[in-house]
Amino acid sequence: MRKPEFTEAEMQKIRSSFYYVDRDMTGAKRIFMDNAGGSLRLRAAEEAFRKTDSIPDCSEHANRTALLLLDIETRGRRDLQEVIFGTESGVVFPGGTASSLMMEICRIFAENAAGTNVVTTMLEHPSAYDGMKMYAEKYGREFRVAPVNAESGGVDADAVLSLIDKNTAILCCMAASNISGYVYELEKICRTARKINPEILIICDAVQHAPHAWIDPEGIGADAMTFAPYKFFGIRGLGAGWISGRAASFAHHRLLGKSADEWELGSPAPAHYAAISAVVDYVVSLAGKDADGGIKQEIGDPQADMKRRRELFRAGMDRIAARERYLLEVMLEGTEKVPGLRHIPGVTVRMDGAPIEQRDLITGIELSGLSCVEARKAYDERGIVVFERSAESIYSKRMVEAFGSEGMVRISPLHVNTKEEMEEFLAVTRDLVRHS
Ligand SMILES: Cc1ncc(COP(=O)(O)O)c(C=O)c1O
Repeated sequence: MRKPEFTEAEMQKIRSSFYYVDRDMTGAKRIFMDNAGGSLRLRAAEEAFRKTDSIPDCSEHANRTALLLLDIETRGRRDLQEVIFGTESGVVFPGGTASSLMMEICRIFAENAAGTNVVTTMLEHPSAYDGMKMYAEKYGREFRVAPVNAESGGVDADAVLSLIDKNTAILCCMAASNISGYVYELEKICRTARKINPEILIICDAVQHAPHAWIDPEGIGADAMTFAPYKFFGIRGLGAGWISGRAASFAHHRLLGKSADEWELGSPAPAHYAAISAVVDYVVSLAGKDADGGIKQEIGDPQADMKRRRELFRAGMDRIAARERYLLEVMLEGTEKVPGLRHIPGVTVRMDGAPIEQRDLITGIELSGLSCVEARKAYDERGIVVFERSAESIYSKRMVEAFGSEGMVRISPLHVNTKEEMEEFLAVTRDLVRHS
């Protein structure tokens, strides 16, 4: 069995850093395992947002408070670009949602790309899949879709690469599936795609993967990447995008008086950036341990050294990933007290073929005798929040049908969860199939 990664003391600190970890806002006890629909909220991110947003001044003006807000905004923008996206090159830009950013990127790239076909994969979120399809049709390009591997729960790198040729204008490939948790071999896919066609434009949806591992859009050779802060311990009402240096000056909506690579449009919201910095501070704080095993707090002046801050952020994300692999193993294999999902009669774990190292902490199960909606309701009645990924929903129909299912219960915990919560979830699951 893997190790829990965080000490008891660290777990206490981690759990006290988030709102509503074990009770909802009415005070009712519950276990929250629907983080893929919006993650547990970091207290510091909410507080930074509220505090900053209560200030009326405009960060584009020059009075004293405006300049303080500009500092917060600049810090957050650098955290977004240099720490989370991990690069000084290219540009970052905010939007209302990750979906609106993705559709916009699909449009702009389609207008600027050269080639007769585009490639995407069966598991993409509708904002990516439909954006690619709409603009392939508009510009008369062949729309190619790499099929799933039903066993691994993913899409094989070779299935994507076999569709790419020297006429492929755009590749749109996600970092990890929000249905199965499968982590794509993105670096291999991007590097090989670019060898086949050096001019290819590559878009990557990292909404699912970003809260579970560090991302490296420049390192893998992508031209655009997106994520959603509300699934990454942060706030709703914001999507975050990165565009590579070579794509940054593609014609896009902008005020003509600004530079050709300016992607932000309208008044910036310093509160959004304040919340992003709070999330980065939190992940950085997980980077190492004090001598007594507590969470390391002292990291010098990380803002003075963004590269160091990025290294610590990466180390923090690596620890989150290790914790989540431990929890995934507990969920699948069980403990001395309760059998895991793989061992409970009446439970089918779908898309379970990939090794744990290649999966985010998310899984899909079917319970005998219960539809996915009935199962979700039954969990809710027992104080466990999960979600159904059903063929009835436009957000999951294409994916679950590709896996030959009518719908599954999606369980998406977070590094914040404990072994004891997993055991309670497994005991409830065993109870549900026993009585169905
Ligand atoms: C993989 C993936 N991409 C994109 C999105 C869209 O994010 P948003 O709701 O911010 O538009 C989601 C949301 O569930 C997602 O899971």
